[in-house]
Amino acid sequence: MGRVAELAGVSVRTLHHYDEIGLVRPSERTASGYRAYAAGDVERLREVLAYRRLGFGLREIAALVDDPATDAVAHLHRLRGLLLDQRDRAGAMVTAIDNELEARAMGIRTSPEDQLKVFGAQLYETIGSAYPATRRTEPRIAARVWEALGDARTVLNVGAGTGNYEPPDREVTAVEPSAVMRAQRPAGAAPCVAARAERLPFADQSFDAAMAFSTVHHWHDPIAGLREMRRVARRVVVFTHDASATGWLHRFWLSRDYLPEVAGLVTGRPPVERLADAVGGRLEPVLIPWDCADGFFEAYWRRPEAYLEEEVRRAMSVWIRVGPQAEQRAVDRLRADLSSGRWAERNRELLALDAAELGLRLLVA
Ligand SMILES: C[S@@+](CC[C@H](N)C(=O)[O-])C[C@H]1O[C@@H](n2cnc3c(N)ncnc32)[C@H](O)[C@@H]1O
Repeated sequence: MGRVAELAGVSVRTLHHYDEIGLVRPSERTASGYRAYAAGDVERLREVLAYRRLGFGLREIAALVDDPATDAVAHLHRLRGLLLDQRDRAGAMVTAIDNELEARAMGIRTSPEDQLKVFGAQLYETIGSAYPATRRTEPRIAARVWEALGDARTVLNVGAGTGNYEPPDREVTAVEPSAVMRAQRPAGAAPCVAARAERLPFADQSFDAAMAFSTVHHWHDPIAGLREMRRVARRVVVFTHDASATGWLHRFWLSRDYLPEVAGLVTGRPPVERLADAVGGRLEPVLIPWDCADGFFEAYWRRPEAYLEEEVRRAMSVWIRVGPQAEQRAVDRLRADLSSGRWAERNRELLALDAAELGLRLLVA
């Protein structure tokens, strides 16, 4: 027992207590009559300790580990999902705290609502309510996605948000981890499951196609998520962007000239070619129309004044991620360059275009 306690980093008293309440009983005896943990006991102890670390009470844990329908692999999957959630929440709290520190350093007091939002889970729990104001289906891009879905009758929409881009003429199932986003799905929208791309709760080949629109860059493990899509569907269609320096970062004037902090957000992300390779797919460029109806980050490339509007920025995750100081600086500089004519001078060639290639890609596998 002492050795097990040492390995697991808990006290012998804790192990005795688990034994007494029947949670983890060492089932073997040593030659000298001491009780010893068999392999199955150790597996159970590992599950108990992991659920404990996640904050579950002992009674809840007993019900979880005694559930006959859940084997060791299912427990590992469940624990992994719970730990990823916890990591997300911790990440979101760090971002929120950084933002508040920056705001305080500039003498700005955050509102009581903003202070409480720190506890409100993930990014989309924070920005989700601002989303529907400017984020809607862009019909020309939707047509490309729907065409790429081919003859698929059943479609899984991963990272579905409020349901934009869900094809109206197929049987759609949505997956969306944010409760705020799920709650904003319109009445009559496709059924939505609370899950993450990295672990889709569906059997192999359950759908004709799986799609993901403007969401892969939010996933903790995009490659794992794409492989999951490949596992559950025979066709995969993803709308994403090439975050490389030449593909996107330096191609779009907003990130290039006003918000260099965006570079820090994309470091460590797998290049779009690797995403395509992971599922054996091809990449097609998607041009953004000058009057794009969906207010994503690059959408207003020919309407620069839009970025001065708070409502427009609040529905783009980039601004939350770079923090209030960088946001304020970028907006102030853009405003100044728009009024001095410097923006127009630098970006004259854009004003003649009806659609721009800014690194957005359709990945089809
Ligand atoms: C920019 S929104 C896009 C929503 C929708 N696809 C659309 O185009 O309107 C990104 C969405 O990805 C979701 N998301 C974040 N992490 C995810 C993950 N690991 N798996 C699936 N979805 C995720 C967010 O909650 C958010 O709703």
